[in-house]
Amino acid sequence: MLSASIAGILLLPAASLGVEAVDPAARIGPGNPELGRIKADDSRCLECHGIEGMSGDARIPNHAGQFAAYLIKQLRDFQSGARHHEVMNLMAEDLSAGDMADIAAYFASLPVMSGPRIGDFPEAEKLFERGDAGRNIPACAGCHGNDGKGGRDEHGVYPLIAGQNRVYLHSQLTGWKHEGRSNSPDAVMNKIAGALRDDEIDALANYLSGR
Ligand code: HEC
Ligand code: HEC
Repeated sequence: MLSASIAGILLLPAASLGVEAVDPAARIGPGNPELGRIKADDSRCLECHGIEGMSGDARIPNHAGQFAAYLIKQLRDFQSGARHHEVMNLMAEDLSAGDMADIAAYFASLPVMSGPRIGDFPEAEKLFERGDAGRNIPACAGCHGNDGKGGRDEHGVYPLIAGQNRVYLHSQLTGWKHEGRSNSPDAVMNKIAGALRDDEIDALANYLSGR
């Protein structure tokens, strides 16, 4: 479904498409957040991802305010093996579709994640806002929103990445680049991260984690 839009975006000059800001309620989706909190506790998700969806370990992603539709897709991908991670493949193994929706709704209902600013990263800011047309790198903001807080359009859901843990962001961008992670629609993130230099990946992780 995403192919036409992504093909279009990849050909565009560096311009932000400005995915629309989303009402917090629209992040939550069909699940029940109260039930989700209980299930997340029983299934031990909160031990690693934090009671308030803010993880205390920089390698483990925050989920606070993340789009439920995105979290559900990742859980399905861990369950099917489309996304590989030893711990998460096991954690997702026994979750039903209802469990996924409820747990995702709980995390999505929490105050949106943000992190401490650790410096100025003008190159990363430019890549985020404008991309680099010469190297066929589209603006991150075009899909992940001008504030990096994610977005949706008729094609799908784009995760919240601003305020995410720095080490986790770095590991995912490196994973996309070297294809250790390859579950994005039409490999869009593999194409984008594949075009980034390692120093740009460092700078983007530093910049995004502090927003
Ligand atoms: C022992 C620690 C641990 C436990 C327990 C755990 N997770 Fe995770 N989770 C991780 C780590 C580490 C990652 C990052 C995986 C990677 O690097 O690809 C992750 C990633 C995820 C992601 C992907 C997030 C993203 O932004 O793409 C989701 C969704 C998730 N976990 C949900 C859950 C749920 C739901 C549970 C409970 C059923 C759970 N996790 C239990 C450690 C844990
Ligand atoms: C054409 C749309 C598009 C553009 C442009 C884009 N992304 Fe993405 N990105 C996505 C989609 C879709 C996903 C979710 C993939 C999935 O379903 O696993 C994603 C996922 C990610 C993730 C993983 C988030 C997580 O929680 O695991 C990171 C990090 C990321 N993108 C960073 C970037 C950066 C940095 C840029 C700019 C250099 C960028 N993206 C540009 C569409 C885009």
